[in-house]
Amino acid sequence: MNLAGHLNHRIFQIISNIAQRENIQAFVIGGFVRDSLLTGSEIPPKDIDIVVLGSGIEMAERVRQSINEEVPLTVFKNFGTAMLKWGESEIEFVGARKESYRKDSRKPLVENGTLEDDQNRRDFTINALAISLNPDSYGELVDPFGGLKHLDEKLITTPLDPGRTFSDDPLRMLRGIRFASRLGFRIEPATLTSMGQHRNRIGIVSQERITGELNKIMLTRQPGKGFLLLDKTGLLEIIFPELHQLKGVEEVDGQFHKDNFLHTLKVLDNIALKTDDLWLRWAALLHDIAKPRTKKFESGTGWTFHGHEFLGSKMISGIFKKLRLPLNDKMKYVRKLVLLHLRPIVLSQEIVSDSAVRRLIFDVGDDLEDLMTLCEADITSKNEKTVKKHLRNFQIVREKIVEIEGKDSIRNFQPPISGDDIRHVFGIPPSRPVGIIKNAIKEAILDGEIPNEFEAAYRKMLEEGGALGLTVQNKLKKDGD
Ligand code: CTP
Repeated sequence: MNLAGHLNHRIFQIISNIAQRENIQAFVIGGFVRDSLLTGSEIPPKDIDIVVLGSGIEMAERVRQSINEEVPLTVFKNFGTAMLKWGESEIEFVGARKESYRKDSRKPLVENGTLEDDQNRRDFTINALAISLNPDSYGELVDPFGGLKHLDEKLITTPLDPGRTFSDDPLRMLRGIRFASRLGFRIEPATLTSMGQHRNRIGIVSQERITGELNKIMLTRQPGKGFLLLDKTGLLEIIFPELHQLKGVEEVDGQFHKDNFLHTLKVLDNIALKTDDLWLRWAALLHDIAKPRTKKFESGTGWTFHGHEFLGSKMISGIFKKLRLPLNDKMKYVRKLVLLHLRPIVLSQEIVSDSAVRRLIFDVGDDLEDLMTLCEADITSKNEKTVKKHLRNFQIVREKIVEIEGKDSIRNFQPPISGDDIRHVFGIPPSRPVGIIKNAIKEAILDGEIPNEFEAAYRKMLEEGGALGLTVQNKLKKDGD
């Protein structure tokens, strides 16, 4: 099979010329070949892996000299690799190698090898496909393990015995699951079984790498599929026990609750249809995380999970820390959405008071749209009528939000009277009464007792101050007056 038509990046011709001049064999291999066979030649390649029978670093240096532009080259001497950054593309060069692994490390002992050795050491048959760049065989596919057939059959399997591939580098188990959920492929049964057998080897992989793969799984079209496979192989229980604990259904007096793991995965897949935002997807994955810890059977009521949103939000920073996810605004965002994920549902069930809507707008700030997206994804009923009813209710909540926002400016609420203003008027130092008065003004605005305006807030301040025995010492002017 000749794939010269796929080699439309200028780099390939340059490598081909050098390969001929230097009498060295060169191939493009790995993700580029896989993805260009899957998507055709139209999509411009970003990451290109080149393997040469010789020194990858020397080849990279020659290629750089041949490009009539300034292109940065990074050499990793220890790994025998070099990377050229040319426009949007990152082109990595490596010499063909044979690898052998020790029990306790993902770092292989490396020797020079043939192309076959190099293909043998790769993770999956679909990633071991190589295309020749030498002029006499330019574009020819080298496919010793049936990778092309496996692409066609949508199958993930390893070039060698899977036990060896996964034991050598256990991260590949997560990579395989990632490719399955990204490409919609199935994992060949013996390969899947082997993942289960080697699951404990994941212990030699750093948390950063594990989480890197988890994030990539999260960003695929069907992340739920990835988590199901993680569970099936037993990897989930090791790398994410909190999620694994959502599994299962209990029964008391003939009453069951739903399987919270399957529900969560459905919510994740639902939200993946609406957003590519990694953190909104994390919020979906974690929204019910505290259900196992809050589960109770109450006679007369049935199964309850009271307060799971509060406890869940409290669990977020611990989970982020353990997974080495960033402990910054992203964590706070996920924590907030987990905490508030029931609020719109409550609003949609009751006769909605203005003040309840105002409080929601105040609490969620700029992330209101994301919260509504999460709530809509949280509808997983199989009954179409129920789904329609919930969606209609959420639409009513959305309309109510627009209406209230039109009237008041509650989003990113800035109180019309600040703590400094209160201290100035009553001539008092920073102290408890300042907080009490400030809070009373905020509550009065959110309850709709007074409008979100300076004059009304000023009057409220005087009233609250008076009740606390304070007297006016200084006058205060509205900004701009
Ligand atoms: N590879 C491997 N084992 C790993 C990582 C990578 O065998 N643990 C090999 C595979 O042949 C892979 C190639 O190195 O195709 C390049 O790796 P990488 O760039 O990480 O992945 P891609 O397959 O290119 O896919 P993606 O960029 O989508 O991750």
